[in-house]
Amino acid sequence: MKQQYKVGIIGCTGMVGQRFVTLMERHPWFRLTAVAASARSAGKTYEEAVSARWAMDTPIPEEAKGLVVLDAQADAEKLASLVDFCFCAVDMKKEEIRALEEKYARLECPIVSNNSANRWTPDVPMVVPEINAEHLQIIDAQRRRLGTRRGFIAVKSNCSLQSYVPALHPLIKYGIDRALVCTDQAISGAGKTFQRWPEMVDNCIPYIGGEEEKSEQEPLKLWGHIEGSEIVKADAPLITAQCFRVACQDGHMAAVFVKFQDGCKPSIEQIKADWAAFRGPAQELDLPSAPKQFLHYFEEPDRPQTRLDRNLEHGMAVSLGRLREDTQYDYKFVGLSHNTLRGAAGGAVLLAELLCAKGYMD
Ligand SMILES: NC(=O)c1ccc[n+]([C@@H]2O[C@H](COP(=O)([O-])OP(=O)(O)OC[C@H]3O[C@@H](n4cnc5c(N)ncnc54)[C@H](OP(=O)(O)O)[C@@H]3O)[C@@H](O)[C@H]2O)c1
Repeated sequence: MKQQYKVGIIGCTGMVGQRFVTLMERHPWFRLTAVAASARSAGKTYEEAVSARWAMDTPIPEEAKGLVVLDAQADAEKLASLVDFCFCAVDMKKEEIRALEEKYARLECPIVSNNSANRWTPDVPMVVPEINAEHLQIIDAQRRRLGTRRGFIAVKSNCSLQSYVPALHPLIKYGIDRALVCTDQAISGAGKTFQRWPEMVDNCIPYIGGEEEKSEQEPLKLWGHIEGSEIVKADAPLITAQCFRVACQDGHMAAVFVKFQDGCKPSIEQIKADWAAFRGPAQELDLPSAPKQFLHYFEEPDRPQTRLDRNLEHGMAVSLGRLREDTQYDYKFVGLSHNTLRGAAGGAVLLAELLCAKGYMD
């Protein structure tokens, strides 16, 4: 792998795009070289394009301020020529995003995407580095389909499932029969702040379009396997989900209920030991954004809490707590993850680091 990679961000002005920009500051492997958004922002410096909308709690990085925003559509060839790969997080129609991402891949510019548009494309890997790094092998088949030498698309999964799938994953070996999940999701997940969404102050909305289907289905692709030139989703464990928008700025919390197959129920001590021991390729390869300890279990009865714990290990760890017996399922517990860090930009940066370490960006 190379020492340094030149990186572009498509959707640089948005909530996730801003996170990407902050994560590139002082990144040991990645250097922000180009930024792009819609024609509305194109031609402005990054500082001008984003100023009133800057929603991060650190200032706009100096290296980004003076970059001139490109038009992601019209300047695609220019952008592709300036970088080794791009992150992508845009608010557009699904068909448009699919076409945009494929356009960059065909220009030999790998895309690491936060968007949902390509999550179900059979030869596009959807990867949480600790869970299913082996799915990256499908990139060879995708490159054959696209007729590219280095261009490809890799995606990360939806933000909501980062708060419970990492906890369920090390328990699958016991035989999980089913899980029920209720998520309380922060407003930054909709690209908003309280200033821009005052209706969310002191409020809870029991609906997030498309979120419940994603929360139920995407884990099955993560747990799927490669067959020929596609990833075939797993058919178990089945998950049912309810997703609420709640009055938090950042951090998705999940209440999880889990039932094991008959005779397979592990003890509470076994589950806690599995969570404590859980490591994946991100930790084994010592990737720069990998949390040292992926799953943290809190013994205090009132933890994890969104404000106290969402930033654990730079927002890349998952916080768990309140594991106890349930009256209808075997156990219930709580999970928390930072939706724009582990759940979006941070998760994509970690995926890009894995792709570099495995030679896909060279
Ligand atoms: N927020 C989260 O926690 C989260 C988590 C996981 C995944 N995601 C996904 O990430 C994506 C972005 O989400 P977000 O919350 O960052 O949205 P956002 O804050 O609304 O930002 C949208 C971005 O898309 C750009 N854009 C809009 N139309 C465009 C066009 N025609 N061509 C090029 N760029 C265009 C915007 O540029 P302008 O400023 O020029 O309009 C802006 O940079 C979505 O697909 C979302 O589902 C978000």
